[in-house]
Amino acid sequence: MKRTLSLLLTVLFTLSPVSFVLADGPDGPPDTSFTDIHSSDWFYADVVTAYNAGLINGKSADRFAPDDLLTYAEAVKLAACMRQLHDEGEITLGNGSAVWYETYVTYCKSLGIITADYPWNQAATRAGYMEIFSAALPDTDLTPVNEIPDGAIPDLYGLSAGTTAAIYKLYRAGIVQGTGDDHACAPYSSIQRCEVAAILVRMMASEKRIRFTMSAPEHRIETIGGITYVDGILIANKTYSLPADYAPGGLLPECQAALDALMAGAAADGLSIYPISTYRSYDYQAGLYESYAARDGYAEADRYSARPGHSEHQTGLAIDVNSLAYDFAYTPEGIWLAAHCAEYGFILRYPEGGEAATGYRYEPWHIRYLGVELAGKVTASGLTLEEYLGITSVYRD
Ligand code: DAL
Ligand code: ZN
Repeated sequence: MKRTLSLLLTVLFTLSPVSFVLADGPDGPPDTSFTDIHSSDWFYADVVTAYNAGLINGKSADRFAPDDLLTYAEAVKLAACMRQLHDEGEITLGNGSAVWYETYVTYCKSLGIITADYPWNQAATRAGYMEIFSAALPDTDLTPVNEIPDGAIPDLYGLSAGTTAAIYKLYRAGIVQGTGDDHACAPYSSIQRCEVAAILVRMMASEKRIRFTMSAPEHRIETIGGITYVDGILIANKTYSLPADYAPGGLLPECQAALDALMAGAAADGLSIYPISTYRSYDYQAGLYESYAARDGYAEADRYSARPGHSEHQTGLAIDVNSLAYDFAYTPEGIWLAAHCAEYGFILRYPEGGEAATGYRYEPWHIRYLGVELAGKVTASGLTLEEYLGITSVYRD
């Protein structure tokens, strides 16, 4: 394994058309010759171990460049090399002549490691490289060692089911563990060189895999009079409906008071925020939904309009303001709303990228009253309300 790891890590640092200056190997300059890594860095041990074994080189004698980002082309090259090393015990693949990464792309496609093209020269997202790496080795080499229930990773939203499964596979196999106490994945962020050495080591050397456990956050779901409360929060979405006769008739008083305060706050900043749709009855929503479905078809209407009994507007706790146009997000009022609504107890209920969790497309104009404390926590979490409460939003039929 040591020899194969050595080969692999050598490949890692001769990845791209950028030619790295290779250091001298085991007897070369001491690790401290890299002025841009420090013993307090979390990746220091991985880099030094690999460096002292002659496996990792810097970009120059004194520069390791730990913060440089991995591109998709580099990720696919690593995946190809890991697989060839695994299958054949050596790496014979080389860079292509016209396009340097084409040999690796072709190899990975031929083995089903990737099935589509990526924006090769762009920095890979964590979700993207994990999707590629999770298929680089056969499943029998990525067996689960960690207990990680579905839903435990706190920040996987807006991803396809396949990508989500790939991320869970790598967590469960001990290849990655995310960051922070909650093991957040940050799927839309990039990955740096300093992180890659450790990940490759864990991919190829099972004894290096990380053991940890996660538990799914537990939430209390109760139904009172046909209305669903999750941790005491009234929920209306695709999974949880309201009875047809639930009809507060208008905004609930605490929501109305918070809206008044929000409008006053915006006015004090010279902006005009005003409601254009507040409470909607079951019957009104039925007509609205049918009219959208007649115009766009049911499948499309389901992406932006709730079926009767499923609209948050029926709760008396939701409001559409100013304009039902995506451009609203870029107006001074839209920007102010996103930045300040939590101070008044509201969240942007259907955030951009949240459709997989909320069931609805981005609505920069739709706010939901939760009270100042909870609105602040949900907003700070960066999660949709569904993710924060650990619930789904999916129609049964
Ligand atoms: N536009 C939101 C999803 C509703 O119809 O309630
Ligand atoms: Zn709305």
